[in-house]
Amino acid sequence: MSLSQPTILVTGGAGYIGSHAVLALQQAGYEVVVLDNLVYGHRDIIENVLNVELVVGDTSDRVLLDHLFASHQIAAVMHFAAYAYVGESVTDPAKYYHNNFVGTLTLLEAMMAASIHQFVFSSTCATYGIPTTVPISENHPQDPINPYGRSKLMVEQVLKDFDKAYDFKSVCFRYFNAAGADPQGRLGEDHNPETHIIPLVLLTALGQRESVSIFGTDYPTPDGTCIRDYIHVTDLAQAHVLGLEYLLKGGDTNIFNLGNGNGFSVKEVIETARQVTGREIKTVECARRPGDPPALVGSSDRARQILGWNPQYANLQDILSHAWQWHQKRHPAK
Ligand SMILES: NC(=O)c1ccc[n+]([C@@H]2O[C@H](COP(=O)([O-])OP(=O)(O)OC[C@H]3O[C@@H](n4cnc5c(N)ncnc54)[C@H](O)[C@@H]3O)[C@@H](O)[C@H]2O)c1
Repeated sequence: MSLSQPTILVTGGAGYIGSHAVLALQQAGYEVVVLDNLVYGHRDIIENVLNVELVVGDTSDRVLLDHLFASHQIAAVMHFAAYAYVGESVTDPAKYYHNNFVGTLTLLEAMMAASIHQFVFSSTCATYGIPTTVPISENHPQDPINPYGRSKLMVEQVLKDFDKAYDFKSVCFRYFNAAGADPQGRLGEDHNPETHIIPLVLLTALGQRESVSIFGTDYPTPDGTCIRDYIHVTDLAQAHVLGLEYLLKGGDTNIFNLGNGNGFSVKEVIETARQVTGREIKTVECARRPGDPPALVGSSDRARQILGWNPQYANLQDILSHAWQWHQKRHPAK
């Protein structure tokens, strides 16, 4: 007889990365409860694919959180729930500070009231701002250039203080660009509006968008376009299970970058997408966007060394073909 595994609360589990983390937790044998306000999440994924309990509600709803923690035996929380549109965070910072910061603080306070002291947090490479050295390690100075990045950095700072004051243990993951989809095609990326390059390229390949805009072709990079670090969402989800297990075994508060250490340019992404899909993908060259650094590539050595993380899908071909499989299923030709 096997001992039953603890129950994990996954906030934002109806979203892109959270849903892949729910799947990875289920595969590792954990019970999962999802809290999602469904502003951007997908109920059909929870009901038809993941088959877990969904609590529809907001992380800033303290009454709901107290009830949730009283009615479930939650051992730890994985917190994906946030708004993540960088441009919108500049025009409507209140929305971002409220959701990403106040919502998270409310969740942390409810956790402490329920004596739950283990927390896995989705932070971002946007907390680094414009990098001064590449690859970026966890010790790189943090100087975010938009309210989205600042809202995440504020939570990181709270987590450090909570550890000192309340012995509250957290693992904070700073992700680079999450990409790809479940290799078996069950889950994938479905943001609305979509702003990420890989889904935009694939939606263009599907004929659902006219063209892909390339912002800047005169960067100091080999082909003049921006270089980014794309991390397969299944590898990201696996890191979360390892981070959780590290905490459950008594690990101390820590921070880890999650990237694949290899940068790919916008033109490389588009060219690989043409090969994977066999379709023409029309591009339009535009001016640089303010605040886009030429290259953002992370070093994830610490996650490999301390968590034993070993990403399986580091090449662009795998990332794009898994995403393509998902997009064809999710957005069939009309
Ligand atoms: N996608 C990336 O490349 C990337 C990179 C770095 C960090 N992140 C972080 O990872 C997390 C997940 O990102 P994603 O791409 O899966 O986004 P997503 O929008 O697909 O998922 C977020 C989910 O959280 C829910 N949500 C938002 N605010 C909530 C609240 N207050 N209460 C309850 N539910 C709420 C949304 O409905 C959605 O289902 C976010 O915290 C994001 O900042 C993402």
